[in-house]
Amino acid sequence: MKLYFAPLEGVTDVYFRRIHADLFGTSPMGKADEYFAPFLSITQDLKIHERDLHALAKEKNAGMHVVPQIMTNRADAFLSAARQLWDLGYDEVNLNLGCPSGTVVGKNRGAGFLSEPDMLDRFFYTVFSDPLFTSTEMRLSVKSRLGMVDPDEFKDILEIYNRYPISELILHPRVRKEMYKGDVHTDMTAYTSEHTTIPLCCNGDLFTVRDVDHLFRALPKEPHALMFGRGAVSNPNLFLEVRQYLAKETVTPLTKEQLWQFSDALCRDAQTRLSGAAYAVPFKGALGILDRIVCRCRALPKTSA
Ligand SMILES: Cc1cc2nc3c(=O)[nH]c(=O)nc-3n(C[C@H](O)[C@H](O)[C@H](O)COP(=O)(O)O)c2cc1C
Repeated sequence: MKLYFAPLEGVTDVYFRRIHADLFGTSPMGKADEYFAPFLSITQDLKIHERDLHALAKEKNAGMHVVPQIMTNRADAFLSAARQLWDLGYDEVNLNLGCPSGTVVGKNRGAGFLSEPDMLDRFFYTVFSDPLFTSTEMRLSVKSRLGMVDPDEFKDILEIYNRYPISELILHPRVRKEMYKGDVHTDMTAYTSEHTTIPLCCNGDLFTVRDVDHLFRALPKEPHALMFGRGAVSNPNLFLEVRQYLAKETVTPLTKEQLWQFSDALCRDAQTRLSGAAYAVPFKGALGILDRIVCRCRALPKTSA
């Protein structure tokens, strides 16, 4: 089973990914099989923003399997950016259908796109008819919420997904109005598992091995993959622990030393880049990382450290 690091805008940027891969990805058991990059920005002339191109350069992501993400409701913008990514050497692009932010949803993007099923259907029709997807090995995966208000909205949304050759469906089983709070709707993950042949990746509130165990007990069959976001930020050793659990081995929890080493590496990296900053990217990434790790993870359940 594949284990992925979720995209967390302002947190899991190229610097964070590098440090995680260098410290925890040296053994096949501890690494994330894939790192999903936070959604990139597309300029007015439908090009990927220079800053994101830098962050996605293959040499900066060497040794990691990175999947870039696009958030748009325009097929022309998606295709233009996806072509650029193909030229950069990427053969998968992920569509963000989950972002709950008010400004994003207000423009019918992210989770907001889920409220426009006809538009969504036309989007996929146009994208999958393009030579980039008919004549190359380029794949499109989707990262989706259940809908805007009612989890049942997903039944119709899934019917749309099922019409297209989507390479993987990453499901965060919450609706937009729930943001990141409340229990995830695992019953809808189970429903999805039974009503699609698209490889399913489960995401949402997987903070510990016990959460993974609970999820598996609720599913009719094993998913193709699991994706960890906040859980893996607060416990960068989570990939090893989950793999040990899957292999029925004794789980070796994160040590305080490892956590210290990880946060120290992030701090040092931030200091180095901030003191000699060549361009503005590092500011958001570095400060964001430290700030968010402290602030956002405070609300998390206790990890093994
Ligand atoms: C700070 C923050 C930034 C996020 N940025 C993105 C993003 O860029 N793209 C995306 O698809 N999801 C994004 N998400 C959602 C996560 O990828 C993930 O789906 C969500 O946190 C649930 O998984 P978790 O419970 O394992 O964290 C973000 C979440 C947080 C908390």
